[in-house]
Amino acid sequence: MSDQIQLPVPDAAALEHSARVNRFIRRRIAEAGGWIDFSEYMQMALYAPGLGYYSAGAHKFGESGDFVTAPEVSPLFSSCLARAFIDLSYGSDSLPGPPTILELGAGSGVMAVEILQTLQRLNALPERYLILEVSADLRERQRRFIAERVADLAERVVWLDELPAAPITGVIVANEVLDAQPVTRFVVDADNRICILGVEASGSGFGWGRRPAEAALHKQLLEIADDLDVVWPPGYASEWSPVIDGFMAGLSQSLERGLIMLIDYGLPMKAFYSPERASGTLVCHYRHRMHTDPFFYPGLQDITAWIDFTRVANAAAVADLDVLGFTTQAQFLLGGGVEEEFALLTESSGAAQDPREQIRIAAGLKTLMMPGQMGENFKVMALGRQLPQGPASVCANDLLHLL
Ligand SMILES: C[S@@+](CC[C@H](N)C(=O)[O-])C[C@H]1O[C@@H](n2cnc3c(N)ncnc32)[C@H](O)[C@@H]1O
Repeated sequence: MSDQIQLPVPDAAALEHSARVNRFIRRRIAEAGGWIDFSEYMQMALYAPGLGYYSAGAHKFGESGDFVTAPEVSPLFSSCLARAFIDLSYGSDSLPGPPTILELGAGSGVMAVEILQTLQRLNALPERYLILEVSADLRERQRRFIAERVADLAERVVWLDELPAAPITGVIVANEVLDAQPVTRFVVDADNRICILGVEASGSGFGWGRRPAEAALHKQLLEIADDLDVVWPPGYASEWSPVIDGFMAGLSQSLERGLIMLIDYGLPMKAFYSPERASGTLVCHYRHRMHTDPFFYPGLQDITAWIDFTRVANAAAVADLDVLGFTTQAQFLLGGGVEEEFALLTESSGAAQDPREQIRIAAGLKTLMMPGQMGENFKVMALGRQLPQGPASVCANDLLHLL
C-alpha cells in the first residue's frame, strides 16, 4: 500500500532509527527459523525497549505527530468521561467520586490532566490517580506535562510498572489502548483453509508468509464463522487478538469494586468478521496518513487494529466482570453532559468574544461526534464489579444487544 500512496519521507535520523528496528526484528526472525507470527512483529515494532514506536522518542500525538486521539482533539471528551465517573457510588460515604482512578496507556498525559481538572471543579477528586504506561519515554513526558499543567494535583498521580498488586476501588479507564495491542492475522486460502499470516525477511524489508493455522486457533476461528453463520471467501483476511483474554483477566484482578471504561474504535463481532470487510481492520498511521502497510519503516509509524467488542465482552464475563453497557462515542457524549461542558468551555476560554476560538471548540466537538469521524466508529464499553448499574451516559442508549 505504501508504494501506492504518497507517504512523507522520514529524515536521516528517523531512517537510521528505523534501520536499527529493522535489524532487531530481522535477528529475531532469523532466530525463529525465518518466520514469526504477525503479533510478535507488531509487539516489537511498537514496544521493543528503546526501539519500538511507543518506546522510542518519536512525537506521535497531536498535529506534529502521526495521529490524534479524542482527548487530544478536545477537552470535552475527558470532561464527559470524568462526569461518568461521579455518576456512581463506589461505597465510600466521604467521597462523591471514585477513590482511585487507574488510567492505562496515558499517551501525552492530557486526559489525566483534564479528568483531574473536571473532578476538581465537581468536588470529586480521587485520592490517587494511577497511570500504567508501558513506554518509559511516554511516562517521562506524562510526568512533565502533568507537573506543568496541574502542579497542585500532581502529587496524587503515581506511575505503576505493572497492574496494582492490591485491587483498587474506583475506575479503570483506557482510551485507544486495546487497539494498540498486538494481533494475529489470518487469511482464507484458495482451498478454503485458514492460514496465519506471519512475517518473513524480504529484500531489505519484510513480507507476509503463510502457514496453516495451528489446531486450537483454527478451531476457534471456525467456531466464530459457524456462530455468525458466515462463509469467508478465499482471500478473506482479518485479525484475531491473542492477548484479549489475559488483558481482561488482568483488569478483573485489579478491580475490587467499581467501573472499567474502555473506549476504542471497534465493532460487534458480526460486523467485525463480516465477509464484506474482506481485508480486515489493520491500519497504520504515519504523519496523519492512514495506510495498511505495517512494514513501512518499522518503529516510525503506529500500527493498530479495530476491536471486536463481542470478544471483549465475552472475555470480561469469563473474568467475572459485569458487562454494564456499550454505546457509540457520540451517544456517550450526548448523554454525558457534552452540551453543558461545551457551554462551560466556551465561557471559560473566552470564546464568546473570540470567533476563532469558538470555531476551534466547535470543530473539536464535531470531530468527536460526527458519524464519519469519531462519533460512530468509536465505542464506549462499561464493565464493572459490585455496581448496581453503569453510567447513564453509556446505558441510556445501550447497544449491548448488538454484541
Ligand atoms: C494510541 S495511544 C493512546 C494514548 C492515550 N490514551 C490517548 O487517548 O491519547 C496507546 C497508549 O497505550 C500505551 N500502552 C499500550 N499497551 C499498553 C498496556 N498493555 N498497558 C498500558 N499502556 C499501554 C502506549 O504506550 C500509549 O501510551
